[in-house]
Amino acid sequence: MIERRQYPSYKDLDPFIDVAWLKSLDGYLRERIERRLAVAHDLAFYTGPFLLDEKAPYLPGSRLVYLATSAREENYYDLDRTDLWSPSDEADEFSELMAFIATLPFRETGRMIIMYDSSGRAVTAHRDHDSAELCHEFIWFRTNFNKPFYMLDPETGEKLHVGSHSAWFDTVNQYHGADASGGLSFSIRVDGIFTDEFRSRIPFPKENRSAAPALWAAAD
Ligand SMILES: [Fe+2]
Repeated sequence: MIERRQYPSYKDLDPFIDVAWLKSLDGYLRERIERRLAVAHDLAFYTGPFLLDEKAPYLPGSRLVYLATSAREENYYDLDRTDLWSPSDEADEFSELMAFIATLPFRETGRMIIMYDSSGRAVTAHRDHDSAELCHEFIWFRTNFNKPFYMLDPETGEKLHVGSHSAWFDTVNQYHGADASGGLSFSIRVDGIFTDEFRSRIPFPKENRSAAPALWAAAD
């Protein structure tokens, strides 16, 4: 059988999560993020080196709240090393979000971040890494649709805006980014190891494992 991938694409994970619960956290998150804007100096989001347009900003303006802390210095390839990560002080501040995260189909969690921008600037289209055999298991999700988040096929330049509250997507063989929205925008990404039950639904390919979300999206 020829494996069929699809780009640009994302796997809509809304059928697997409690969307009503997620949406109910919107005001809670907004209030706490606004509080941080006033007092905290959160780390700037760095896109990494794999940009669609090399002249676009590596530091597009978004900030990160780390809900987990790594035992080691920041290294992108540690984000699913679940043994390294433990809840941060911010996990207490965002305890209701953490209760929701506990319902997601992860056996263990690694890096957990809230990405926010007070003025909703565009996020530069980028790939997360270039290791085709490395497939990060993560769930990207949001309480509202204020962030125009998209996937982009490098072959055709075609853009696909995410229309769901949650998604898993190929971060290696396509680009992703966000258009400017003008107002406070935020989303959450949790990396880890999916449960065996959840993994059993995923058509992991024998080669180019990072394309698993694109294969799964094509199967819908
Ligand atoms: Fe990314």
